[in-house]
Amino acid sequence: MKSIYEGKAKILYKTGDSRFLIMHFKDDATAFNGKKFAIVKGKGRLNKEATTIAFDWLKKAGIDTHFVREISQDEILVRKVEIIPVEVVVRNVIAGSLSKRMGLKKGGKLKFPIVEFYYKSDELGDPMLNEYHIRVFDIADEETIEEMKRIAFCVNDLLRKKFEQADILLVDFKIEFGRDEEGKLILADEITPDGARLWDIKTGEVLDKDRFRFDLGDLIEGYEKVLERIRCVS
Ligand code: TMP
Ligand code: ASP
Repeated sequence: MKSIYEGKAKILYKTGDSRFLIMHFKDDATAFNGKKFAIVKGKGRLNKEATTIAFDWLKKAGIDTHFVREISQDEILVRKVEIIPVEVVVRNVIAGSLSKRMGLKKGGKLKFPIVEFYYKSDELGDPMLNEYHIRVFDIADEETIEEMKRIAFCVNDLLRKKFEQADILLVDFKIEFGRDEEGKLILADEITPDGARLWDIKTGEVLDKDRFRFDLGDLIEGYEKVLERIRCVS
C-alpha cells in the first residue's frame, strides 16, 4: 500500500477509491515534539479502538466526522479530507501548557470550557495562534473559525458526558478539522488518550499519554483502563 502521509503516531494509505484513506495507528509514542520516543507495543490497537468508540458516539449525536468503519486491529477507513493546519484544543480543567503558561495549579476547574488554537508545524513546535493570526495568514476564514469553535464545544459537551459515565474526567483534548471534496467542514484525525487528558474521577489517576510524557506509569495499563470503561458506554 502506498502511504500518502506519515505522522508521529499514524500513517495514511491510499485505497482503490480516491475518496477514502486507510488510517493506521502506530505503536510509536512521542512527546515534546518528538524529543521523547518509544515503541509501545499495543498502543496502536488501543488508540484505534478508542477513536472508533468516540467517533461512534459523535456520529450518533449527528456530528459529521471522517470516520467510516474499522478495518483491522489498528486501522480504520476514513474519508479523504484536506486538513486545516490548526490543532483545536478544548480545556475544562487546568493542566499541561495552560497550567505552565498561567502559573496555575494543575486540576483547577475553569469557569467555562475554553478553546485554543495551535499552528500544526513540527518545525515551529506548534505555536499558539489567535483568531487574527489564523485569518491574517489565510489559514482559515472567520466563518470556518466560528464553525470550528461551535463544533469543538459541542464535541466537548458530548465527550465530557460520555467519559463521565465511565468515571473519567475529560480534562482537555485536541481535535483537527478537514474539508471533504464538497468543501464541507468535518471532524478528522483521531480522539484517543494520546491527544486527550483523562483522569479517574475519584482518584485523579492519570490514564492518558501524560503517563509517558512524565513517567507516571505504564502507558498500556492506563489506556486499557480507559478502554475497559468506555466500551460499556453506548
Ligand atoms: P497542552 O496542555 O500540552 O497544550 O495539551 C493540550 C491537549 O492537547 C492535551 O490533551 C494533549 C493534546 N495535545 C496533542 O494532542 N498534541 C500535541 O502536540 C500537544 C502539545 C497536545
Ligand atoms: N504530539 C507531540 C509529540 O509527539 C507532543 C505531545 O503530544 O506531547 O511530540
